[in-house]
Amino acid sequence: MTVDDTTMARLVEAARAVRANAYAPYSKFAVGAAVLDEQGRIHAGCNVENAAYPQGWCAETSALAALVAAGARRVLAVAVVGVAADPVTPCGGCRQKIREFAAADCPVWAADLQQVRARHTLGGLLPAGFGPQHLQG
Ligand code: THU
Repeated sequence: MTVDDTTMARLVEAARAVRANAYAPYSKFAVGAAVLDEQGRIHAGCNVENAAYPQGWCAETSALAALVAAGARRVLAVAVVGVAADPVTPCGGCRQKIREFAAADCPVWAADLQQVRARHTLGGLLPAGFGPQHLQG
């Protein structure tokens, strides 16, 4: 399934917009993420930190929760927006969470406030990953 560049650009914009709502008083590292569902809908989320540090969660997790809460079950594309010297890609835990709903060819783009910095696929970020298929006998 190919997602066109116009849709990817909309996904990046949604991730940029929601990043402004990040709750990151401890790290000061605001992240926004957006995921595209099987109906072409975009779901966005930001990181939400906590005074009990390990209880915080990532922007990608928020976006996935919004997708599932909207009744969707597939992730066709992902955009992550953060500002850092290196492109901000999903952490290991979020790669696994994305894997639950996405195929290996799912595009995962990393952008900052100006431009797209890196274009990956989920399979490239999580090679030979464990997924739902492993539980199907
Ligand atoms: N974070 C994300 O939300 N997504 C990523 O892809 C990388 C890290 C958050 C977690 C934490 O709130 C802050 O960025 C610093 O790690």
